[in-house]
Amino acid sequence: MSLRGIHHVGVAIADLDEAIATYERLFGAIVEHRGLIEGQGVEAAYLRIGAGRVELLAATGEDSPVGRFLARRGPGMHHLAFETEDVDRELRVLAAAGAQLIDETPRPGLEGFQTAFVHPDAAYGVLTEVVSGG
Ligand code: CO
Repeated sequence: MSLRGIHHVGVAIADLDEAIATYERLFGAIVEHRGLIEGQGVEAAYLRIGAGRVELLAATGEDSPVGRFLARRGPGMHHLAFETEDVDRELRVLAAAGAQLIDETPRPGLEGFQTAFVHPDAAYGVLTEVVSGG
């Protein structure tokens, strides 16, 4: 394992502009990156808050993972992301350790980030992401 720590906590929300404004007002958040992640059906923003980071996730359609999450559970915590140097290597380590992967190979995230998701069953009900780059 070569994880550097928690890269961000992902939060699913309905309205990205409104949620960014709320995080700015309440927590002094600063937007680092914002954009569409086509393959995941989300518009996302990384917000810096001190030494930490939150990713706000809005669905681009109802028939997407975040869209279904919002329909089923409403807004709230969606995933926990660990930072690594090498997502591909981390996936091989996780698979060898018996973790059920959602992504067998890394896929593009926000602006130059690589990312992959691990099934919630592998981590006590928490959807987990490994992320590199940026
Ligand atoms: Co994330």
